[in-house]
Amino acid sequence: MKQNTILIVDDEENILNSLGRLLDDLGCTVFFAYDGKKGLEIIKDKDIHLVISDYRMPGMDGIKFLDEVKKISPGTIRLMLTGYADIDLAIKAINEGEVYRFITKPWNNIELLVTVNQGLEYFNMQRELCRLNKLIQSQNEALKEWNSKLEQKVSEQTKYIQDFFLESIKSLVVALEVKDKYTEGHSRRVSEYATYICRKMSLPEAFIEDVKLGSLLHDIGKIGIKESILGKNTGLTKEEYEHIKTHPSIGERILTPIIKNSTVINIIRYHHEHLDGNGYPDGLKGAVIPLEARIVAVADAHDALLSERPYRKARDPLSAKKELVKCADIQFDSKVVEILTSNEHNVTDSPFR
Ligand SMILES: [Fe+2]
Repeated sequence: MKQNTILIVDDEENILNSLGRLLDDLGCTVFFAYDGKKGLEIIKDKDIHLVISDYRMPGMDGIKFLDEVKKISPGTIRLMLTGYADIDLAIKAINEGEVYRFITKPWNNIELLVTVNQGLEYFNMQRELCRLNKLIQSQNEALKEWNSKLEQKVSEQTKYIQDFFLESIKSLVVALEVKDKYTEGHSRRVSEYATYICRKMSLPEAFIEDVKLGSLLHDIGKIGIKESILGKNTGLTKEEYEHIKTHPSIGERILTPIIKNSTVINIIRYHHEHLDGNGYPDGLKGAVIPLEARIVAVADAHDALLSERPYRKARDPLSAKKELVKCADIQFDSKVVEILTSNEHNVTDSPFR
């Protein structure tokens, strides 16, 4: 700890000398002043830890002087020397001016040293506290800055991983489209129709994002279907149709290890379920079929009807609309069909195709 500094202010030289000798024994650096004016100059110039001031001095009295000291150096411990006659004033100075203690003249050396020591200990403690507070504050600021950099880094990395993941998934869709040229653009369009339906239903944005991804991937299981069957331009045999019907469960098997999102997986597995229970792979009925799968089922059928297939021509928009309406409540959720075929979304002038 740095050596403590003390300033003694008194107009009597013998008091300055005897106090100076006494305080020398404490190992402090002691400064002297004969009046308040000189005392304040020293306070301004030096880092004074404790000041002892006489009460009665010419010019500026002890109360006024210590009051000025408080303004210039609030942390400095202030003691006042006073005669018995002035004790009431000294008490007032303690109560109103926050003077640390007063010492009566003539003083007892031991009592004076104890008081000065306590004052210096208090000063050192306050200064240490202040130093520690500043240290904590600066460490907190550094920690805050470090945290913010870390958060930014994590967020950048997360975005990078998400983008990378999405691109990898999209390349699976491309792989399917290369294998089955009739599905080219189909997944993207189904995703657009499904997103449109979700927005019209005012579904939450996070759900819509999942539906977007799920509909993009809904037919991914066709990667496991024989090309000769996918490209067949005549009717399918019963066995071939049974083979085609395995694509939802194949898709689920492909993606379950890498996608833990149930909305996406539900779309892949259940987009061929029918409301009346005659769909596949599980024959689910009505509202047991997850909403996301009911939405994609309509979007999927809508695009399929408007697209050419190896075994049939594309339907015109009006005929496609009629087909969807005809299957409402049997195969499809009528509310979803209504949204996609309503006048507001005019299928004869589809914005998606
Ligand atoms: Fe499908």
